[in-house]
Order: sequence, then C-alpha cells, then structure tokens
Amino acid sequence: MIGVFDSGYGGLTVLRSLTERLPQYDYLYLGDNARAPYGPRSFETVYQYTLQSVQWLFSQGCPLVLLACNTASAKALRTIQQRDLPGMGQDLRVLGVIRPTTEIIGQYTTSGKIGILATRGTVVSDSYPMEIARFYPDVQVFQQACPMWVPLIENNQHHSPGADYFVRQCVEQLLEQSPDIDTILLGCTHYPLLQEKIQEVAGPNVRILSQGAIVAESLENYLFRHPEMEKRLDKNGKRLFFTTDDPTDFDAHGSLFFGGEVKSHSADLTDPSCVIQP
Ligand code: DGL
Repeated sequence: MIGVFDSGYGGLTVLRSLTERLPQYDYLYLGDNARAPYGPRSFETVYQYTLQSVQWLFSQGCPLVLLACNTASAKALRTIQQRDLPGMGQDLRVLGVIRPTTEIIGQYTTSGKIGILATRGTVVSDSYPMEIARFYPDVQVFQQACPMWVPLIENNQHHSPGADYFVRQCVEQLLEQSPDIDTILLGCTHYPLLQEKIQEVAGPNVRILSQGAIVAESLENYLFRHPEMEKRLDKNGKRLFFTTDDPTDFDAHGSLFFGGEVKSHSADLTDPSCVIQP
C-alpha cells in the first residue's frame, strides 16, 4: 500500500487527487487527529509525532509513505530521510509535498511574485522561500501564516462568518506585502476547503493553487522513475482510512475533504504489532 499521512483531515484533499490520477494503487491513510493541529507545535514535537506515524505506516505494510502535510514535510521530512530511514533497511521511502510544489510553481507566475498561505510552523521553517529559490532564483516569495484556519476547518466552521473574517484578514495581510502577487499557493493541505473564499478576497486576477493535482503528478513521475518501488505496490484499488481519534467523527468530517465515502478505523500508534488485515 501507499501510506498517506497528515496531522488530521487535510491530507484527504491530496489522497483525493491521488486516487483520481492513480486509482489502481492501494492506499492507507492515517490522520493523527488526536494530536492535530501540528502547525503551532515545535520542530521536535512535529518530528516525533511524524516519525511515530511513519513507523506505524511502515509496520502496516506501506513501503512508501507520502507526508500529505506541509507542516510535517517542513519540520520532519529531512530528518526522517537522513537520520532515521538509513537505519531501517528494507528500502523504505518517505516523500513530502513541498519539493513537488516548489519544482513547478515558478511556471505559474508572470509577475515573479508568489504568495504562500500556510501554518505558522511551515512559514517559520522558511522551507518554501528556500526551496523556491533553488529552482527559481528570480521569483520573490511572500508568506503569511494563518493560525486560525486549521482549527476552523477541523471544527467544521469553515462556512461560518468567523471563517470569512479570518480568511479576509490573512489574504489581505499577504497581498499588502506586495500588490504584484499573481499566484497564491495554498501551502497547507487543509486550505482547499477555503479556496472559494480565498479567491473571492484575492480577486479574479490572482491564481490560487492547491497541491493535490501537483503532488499526484509528481508521484506518478516518481513511480515511473523507480520501477523497483512501483513493482512492490499492490494494485487492487483499495482505500483504507485510520485515525488516532474517533472514527465516527472522522468518517462524517473526512468525506468533505475526500469527496467520497470514508469508513475509518482506530489506529493505536504505540502498537505497531497490531497489523491490519485489508
Ligand atoms: N494539513 C497540514 C499542513 O499541510 C497541517 C495542519 C496542522 O496540523 O496544523 O500543513
């Protein structure tokens, strides 16, 4: 199976695109809802939580795990790849969502000015400006942290007047940094649920980019370039959902993100020996 991880529901927006573009594979989704949001947490905490989740996904039979979470990709991916994976053997791989996005984002801007909306953790890590500078040194990057957005979305309040207020506040603060921003990246996998509101505030001349389709295309390329990994993946079109919190809540809320039925089970990350039977 391909393991897909997020702190909560947000990665389901990525899983949705993955299953649209690459429906043949089996996917195991894990949402660490009990400990979400990750955005305000320290590097060390996000790293520990992410590593534990990745190890659990490995133990369930996923040789390839995608961190469908910008905060985990920004704060934990590199350490896991460089420090933890080499000691684990068995050719296990972990990918993130920041690299695939920064590789192509420069193609979307004509003004050369890009805005990033993300969690505080992702913004403070400076991962986006640093990665974009490697691929597009002439592009200027402006960032805005949106600390209220994930809690609003996780609590199903993203259609409320409160959400309108906080969306307007953050989008205006981003655009005040440069009137020439013509592309805004939703650098958090929860934010596609606010895309319409963001577009309304930003106006029709600003392109709003979400990551799902970008990440799906990048994964397809990765599997093409790594046939040894591609061959190890089951292709029965199965989708399994796990949450560290209440599965009933996860099913009701998760379907909004996934755009289809979600039937989840409870995951105990401290017990990797409990192997699920797909
Ligand atoms: N959806 C996640 C991201 O892309 C994390 C949100 C959070 O837990 O704060 O950053």
